[in-house]
Parts: sequence; C-alpha cells; structure tokens
Amino acid sequence: MRFFSMLITTTCALALVVDPTLGLPIDSPNVPPQKVLSNVVSSPRLNSPFAWIRKQSPFLSSYSDSSEDSDFESWLSVQSSRSFEGILANIGPDGVNVAGQNVQPGVVVASPSHDHPNYFYHWVRDGAITMLALVDEYARAGNVSVKTLIDDYVDNVRITQWTPNPSGQIGRGGLGEPKFEVDGRAFVGTWGRPQRDGPALRAITLISYARALQDRDGASIDSLRYLYDLIKPDLEYVSKFWASPGFDLWEELEGLHFFTAMVQYRALLLGKDISSEFNDDGAARWYHTQSNGLKRFLLSFWDEERGYLVETLASPRSGLDTAILLGSIHGGSESVFPIYSDSIIATLQALVADMRARYPINEQDSLDSDSLPMAVGIGRYPEDVYAGGDTDNSDDLGNPWFLCTATVAHILYGLVEHLALSNSGLTISNLTADFYLPFLSPTPDIKPDYCDFSATAMWSRSAPILRFMPRSKEAEQVISSIFNYADGFLRILRKHADEQGNMSEQFDRNTGFMRGARQLTWSFQSVLGAIEMRDRAIAAIEKRRAYFERFDF
Ligand code: NOJ
Ligand code: NOJ
Repeated sequence: MRFFSMLITTTCALALVVDPTLGLPIDSPNVPPQKVLSNVVSSPRLNSPFAWIRKQSPFLSSYSDSSEDSDFESWLSVQSSRSFEGILANIGPDGVNVAGQNVQPGVVVASPSHDHPNYFYHWVRDGAITMLALVDEYARAGNVSVKTLIDDYVDNVRITQWTPNPSGQIGRGGLGEPKFEVDGRAFVGTWGRPQRDGPALRAITLISYARALQDRDGASIDSLRYLYDLIKPDLEYVSKFWASPGFDLWEELEGLHFFTAMVQYRALLLGKDISSEFNDDGAARWYHTQSNGLKRFLLSFWDEERGYLVETLASPRSGLDTAILLGSIHGGSESVFPIYSDSIIATLQALVADMRARYPINEQDSLDSDSLPMAVGIGRYPEDVYAGGDTDNSDDLGNPWFLCTATVAHILYGLVEHLALSNSGLTISNLTADFYLPFLSPTPDIKPDYCDFSATAMWSRSAPILRFMPRSKEAEQVISSIFNYADGFLRILRKHADEQGNMSEQFDRNTGFMRGARQLTWSFQSVLGAIEMRDRAIAAIEKRRAYFERFDF
C-alpha cells in the first residue's frame, strides 16, 4: 500500500490521500476498512512487508541477462534434445527404454519404472499430451521418423477405443478408461476411473494431426476421414459426459474439475469446425451447443472470495492446483482463460506463494538481490501427500514435480509473449497487483497513463488500477523481469535433473534429489513445451524492440 500511496501522490492528478500505515483512503468513510484491505492486500508480501520496496531495482534487469548467459543457453538447447530423446525412448515398440518388453507400436509408456512405482502402463492422458508434442514437431519440421510414430499412435487409438474395459466399452462409457496395459489389453485393477479428460486430449491431438497433414502435406479433407472416424467417438464422449463427475487428472478426487472441463471445451471447439468440414452438420451443431454450455460452466470455477480459480468444485481442498495452469495451456483460448488472463495469473501467484512456503528446499529469500521475486520448486497442489511411490521416499508428504515447475515457467513465458505483442500495454488490476507490482521498480517517477484508486476500483477485484503504455519503460521493465523470473523456474529443473538431462516425476522436498518414477515422459514433454514457449517469448520481445526502434532516431 505504501507503493500505491507513492504512485497516487506522485502521479495521479486527482489523487486520494492514503494513510501510509494502513493504505486506506482516508477520505472514504463509507468503505469498510476490512473490506478494502482484504480486497487489495491478500498477498505473500504481507509476510515480508514491502521488503521489495526497500531496495530500488536497477531499471533494467534485461531479458538479455539470461540470453547472454551462454552456459544457461547451451543447457537449454542440450536439454531440449535430451527431452525429445527422452520421449522417444519411452515409445513402443522400439524406444530404447521399452524395446523387447511387448509394448505395442505407438504406445507411450509413462515411465520405464516397473516397480516403486510401477508406471509401465499406457495412460491415455500422458499419451495424448506427449503425441501432441510430436505432432507439433511434425508440423514444424516434417520429419518422417516422427510421422511414423504418430501413425503408429493413430493405429493404437483404434485398438484402445475398441478394447472393452472396466469403464465400459465404446459408445457406453468405455472411452473414460484412464490407463491400459502396454500390450493393448485392458487394465483391470482397481483405479480412479473414469477420467474424462483422456478422450478430450486425444481428440485435440488427432485434430491437430489432421491440421498438420493438411497444412504441411496438402492432404485433402477426404483423405483424412480415417482420422475423423477416431476423433468422432471421443467428441461424442466429451459432449455427452462433460457434466458428469469423474476422477481428476491426478487420479484421486471424484468430481467436476477445471483441467478436465478446459480440455473438453477445447476439444469441442476444434471438433465443431472439423465436423462441419466433414459435412457432419448435425454433429457440428451439437458440439457447438455443448461447448457453449461448457463455456458457461467453466466460469463457476472462479472463486471470487479467494481471488483465484479452483480445480475441483465443492472440494474441501484449497482449490489451488497446477492443474489449473495445465488447463490453460492445454485448453485455453483467447476467449476462455488464456495463459495471460488475469484469473490465470492471479491463480499462479497464489499457487507459487503457497509452494514457496511449503517445501524446505524452497526456503530462501523470496526476493533476489535486485528485489525481484525468486523462482521455487512447484508441486501439484498444497494438500498433496503422494511421495512418488519409490522406496526411499516413504514419508507421506508431497514433493515438487518437474512437470509442475516447468508449467509455471511455460505460463510466464506465454504472458511475456502476450505483453510484448500487445498494443494495449500493461494493465494491472486489483487481482494481479500482487503479481505485477514487485516487477515495477518503485521509483517516484513511475508514470502510468491511467490510475484509479477510487473506492469503487478498490471494491472490485477485476477493476484496472494502473495502466502503462506499450512503449513505456515500465512495460519494458515488467516484460524483461517476468522473463527472468520464468528462467528461474527452468534453472530449478536444471539443478535437480541429472547430468544426462533425465528427469523423474518429483524432486525431494528436503534434499532436491530426484524422486518417484524415473525418466517420466510427461516431465520431458513439459520442459520441452516450456522451452518452446521461451523461444516464442524471445521472438516477441525482439519484434517489439524492432517495432519501437523505428521511432527512435
Ligand atoms: C498413483 C497416481 O497416479 C497418483 O496420481 C496418486 O497420487 C497416487 N497413486 C496415490 O493415490
Ligand atoms: C500420476 C499422475 O498423477 C497422473 O496425472 C499421470 O497420468 C500418471 N502418474 C502417469 O504419469
């Protein structure tokens, strides 16, 4: 609030006078003080009040800090190739980790680990997410070897869909089965089933593959009907079951989940377009109607009281969950919870604050020597007690995960890309103030082109309170600082991976050593995804600079 008051007195023409000790507008007696406080200050900064203000950040901790760190840059490129190899190693039948073990062609094994824990299975979710990375690679580079693997996967989708299993059979709920044996048989043990994100993710991957074949190879829509025959059962499943409870992506909680609903929404959105291209007009209309229902339903995950999105409705948990960020990455679009939306950023901020305090390895100053926020290891959700199932890890407490930490980096790079390309500049609302303000150096000459600290603005969480022009030095500073912050999360992965770039599922909350299933396919995919988003962020920053340089002569 001290920061606010500084801004107000120095920059706003019609400034309110703010009591610097409380941060309350002195001349607004109608606003109950508690309410104002809880609206505006709900932050981890309360724990270290305003420490970040004490030191003045040097104006430019530019993104080039990181890109000039050639050691880190070369790690990124080595880790990208290692992650890609790590993925290929776990795909049947010939991947080096799985060869000779009866793995069907195109099956993505979650991890080569056979015991403590046994992850030697085909999870529909892990498989679809991983294959999407290969589809993206094919769309970009057109490699034949990657195409062969995707085609194997496509053949395997048909087998998986038609295999009767404990969730049912095709057309009767069977597509909600979360995992299969690697040789294609149903897994018949007890499990958290059904999980309704699987068919949605698979449809997204298959539709993306159809698009890649059209764009790269000029494939005609008619030649892709074999793909539509696989896509349609998954879309039917999604459109009929999205309102029914199921297990969450972490396979523990039965209910209605944000991640699941987000990927279902995206599947139906992509699905309605492709079905009309196949002249399946009735289906297109039906998917469209259902996607509208889902879109409205998604709004119910916003918790106004808490100021963040919750992962599962009516759950006793805090609701904070990396699954929300994953939902935005895999299911978000411009109109529904994109990576850069205030609700996603507010949720990220609350999650990171929790994780910072939760794991002993994260114990460090929350600010670096330039008073900018420090990255930390991120776990699935605060209440997690799953320690990974390995033998050395029997205490019942959760750990940070590679894929969750990479996911936070991914979101932050996505935000950087958006801010760098935005022509409306940087807008800070009550909702995102805790996230953004630490990135602004608190100099008295900060010049927002708009600020509103009126009582009305204070009351509403989403009210914009500050705005900076696209070309302002403040916007520049925030963009480069967030970029560096994101790099911090990748540096944490680097620290805990082994020398070959292997990543398991988790790293120990006390020691940082790898825990849980080794060489987890999804860990490799997520770090690959984050590094790709980093490249996009750099391209956007460069585009922005080039654009503005035209005005500097
Ligand atoms: C294995 C699941 O895959 C994991 O997500 C879960 O936390 C544990 N079992 C404990 O239920
Ligand atoms: C446990 C995770 O919770 C779940 O999301 C994942 O699908 C399986 N492990 C396999 O990686």
